[in-house]
Amino acid sequence: MLNELLRVEQLASGYHRVPVLNDVSFHVREGEMVAVIGPNGAGKTTLLKTISGLLQPTSGRIFFNGQEISGQPPHTISRLGIAHVPEGGRLFPNMSVMENLLMGAYGNREVLKTGILDELFELFPRLKERRHQLARTLSGGERQMLAIARGMASRPRLLMLDEPSLGLAPVLVDTIYDRLRVLRERGLTILLVEQSVHHALSLADRGYVLENGRIVLEGACAELSRNSHIRQHYLGL
Ligand SMILES: Nc1ncnc2c1ncn2[C@@H]1O[C@H](COP(=O)(O)OP(=O)(O)O)[C@@H](O)[C@H]1O
Ligand SMILES: [Mg+2]
Repeated sequence: MLNELLRVEQLASGYHRVPVLNDVSFHVREGEMVAVIGPNGAGKTTLLKTISGLLQPTSGRIFFNGQEISGQPPHTISRLGIAHVPEGGRLFPNMSVMENLLMGAYGNREVLKTGILDELFELFPRLKERRHQLARTLSGGERQMLAIARGMASRPRLLMLDEPSLGLAPVLVDTIYDRLRVLRERGLTILLVEQSVHHALSLADRGYVLENGRIVLEGACAELSRNSHIRQHYLGL
């Protein structure tokens, strides 16, 4: 039985008097890749922001590696080993690729002695070629790769990705997902939120369906891919 790395219990969260998430419970085991899928506005970004401490839950609890993290500030949560790759990447546009990567390791400079940058450049050779370029000069696909690499730069135990496919042409989405496959095969624990249901369900182990701030369905991705609600509403089959 694999260790439960992330546990979310009966979570409610939202924005100043605007409730978004309601009674959301799920878990991610060590080494697993879990997808939370749902339409635009379902609350996927709100969920990741609440786990990373950018939003405070209105009720419920979040545990990471057995320790309660709900109520902790974002820098504490990131230091515990959770990296959040935000929607759209949110790079530092006027910093170079290298400087963006170094910012990813900011809370934990010791990690740079472990060869993490070489590993990331091996995983994303384009970033190595462009390491001196400003982030704003990168293409959309390269920006998303840099956002993921920056998230990895701290050697997180859990990588959370907010719609890595957003705004990218299908061929680039395939490239991004190919890299995520490598990370997954190396044993990284990944929590992915996506609207691109086809991609998410083809790669992840298990999935949860979030609609209107509630989890309405859950299961192994192979099972979800066969589910008639998913096929009709998400896969267009
Ligand atoms: N900063 C905000 N203030 C108030 N409401 C917000 C804010 N951000 C998002 N929302 C609302 O929260 C709901 C969920 O949004 P979000 O978590 O971004 O969904 P998703 O990522 O699944 O598209 C939406 O109804 C959205 O309008
Ligand atoms: Mg979102």
